[in-house]
Amino acid sequence: MKHKMRGADFLSLQGLSGEDLSDILTEALRIKKEGTRGFRPLSGKAVGLLFEKPSTRTRVSFEVAVLRLGGHPMMLTDLQLGRGETIGDTGIVLSRYLDGLVVRTFAQERIETLAAAADVPVLNALTDLCHPCQAMADMLTILEYRGGLGGLRLAYLGDGNNVANSLMRSGSRLAMDVVIATPKGREPDPSITQESKELAEKHGGSLDITNDPVQAATGADVLYTDVWVSMGDEADPEHAKRLFGAFQLNEEMLRMANDDAMVMHCLPAHRGEEITDAVIDGSHSVVWDQAENRLHAQVALLSVIYG
Ligand code: CP
Ligand code: NVA
Repeated sequence: MKHKMRGADFLSLQGLSGEDLSDILTEALRIKKEGTRGFRPLSGKAVGLLFEKPSTRTRVSFEVAVLRLGGHPMMLTDLQLGRGETIGDTGIVLSRYLDGLVVRTFAQERIETLAAAADVPVLNALTDLCHPCQAMADMLTILEYRGGLGGLRLAYLGDGNNVANSLMRSGSRLAMDVVIATPKGREPDPSITQESKELAEKHGGSLDITNDPVQAATGADVLYTDVWVSMGDEADPEHAKRLFGAFQLNEEMLRMANDDAMVMHCLPAHRGEEITDAVIDGSHSVVWDQAENRLHAQVALLSVIYG
C-alpha cells in the first residue's frame, strides 16, 4: 500500500499524526532487529546532503541509511550557494539531478524555500526551529527501553530551541507528559507549544513549560538535555554558562527523577556544562543507543518516503 508520506517532504513533524509517527517507529524497531531484508527502494537513486552547519551523527547516519536502502549518498560541498546563488535556484537545479535532498540549515524558512523550489523530497536534518529526525530517534529509544511511550514523563532541561521544539511535537503526538524547563526568555516556540499542548490533551498526555528545572526533573522517567550554545548562537558562551548553570544535568538533578530514569542527550555533549561526566557515563545514560537509533529511524523514514 502506498503510504501517504511517499514522495513527500519531511520538513518537520507538524503534518504527521501520532499514528504516522508510530508507524515509522514500529518500522524502525523491525529494521533494527531484522535489517532491510533486501528492500532497496533507493536503488539507482542519488540523495544529496546539503549541510550548512557541522554534523557528525546526522550526516553519517543519513549517508549510511541511504546506502542500506541501495542508494548513493552525495555530500554536497562548495556549492555556488557560498557565492550568492539563491537557495531557490539551487533547489530547482539540484532536483534535476538528484532524487532527494537532506538539508541542515539555519532558518526554517530557508529549507521551506528550497523544498518549494525542488520537486524531489526534502528532509530536515536540523534547522534553528526543529530537529525532527532527532526526535524520531529519541522516541524510538524510549520505546525500545520502556516498551511504550504513553504516560511517561519526559523532562527536558536547557535551551528551548530546535531539539525541545521537536520533542514537544513528538511527545504530544505519542501521549507523553512532556515538561520543558528553560531559563526565562529561552522558552520554546510559542506556536509549536500551543499546537503541542492541544495535541497532548487530545491524546491524553500533557505539556508544561516551566523555568524551574528541579520541578521539571522531579518524578521524570526521562531526563533530556542539549548543549547550552547551539550552532549559530556562539556570540556569548560565558553568558550562556551563567544563564543555564542551574539547568545542568548532574547527579543531584538525577536524584529528583524516578529511580529507573533514562538520561538522554542528542549529542554532541559539552561535558561539565549541560551534563556531567558522572551522569553521561553513568548507568542511567542511554546516549549511545540514542545516537545509534538515528540510523534506524532514518532508514525507516526513507523506507516510507521512497517505499
Ligand atoms: N544530534 C545531532 O544532530 O548530532 P550532529 O550535529 O552530530 O548531527
Ligand atoms: N541545539 C543544538 C542541537 C545539536 C544537534 C544545535 O542546534 O546546535
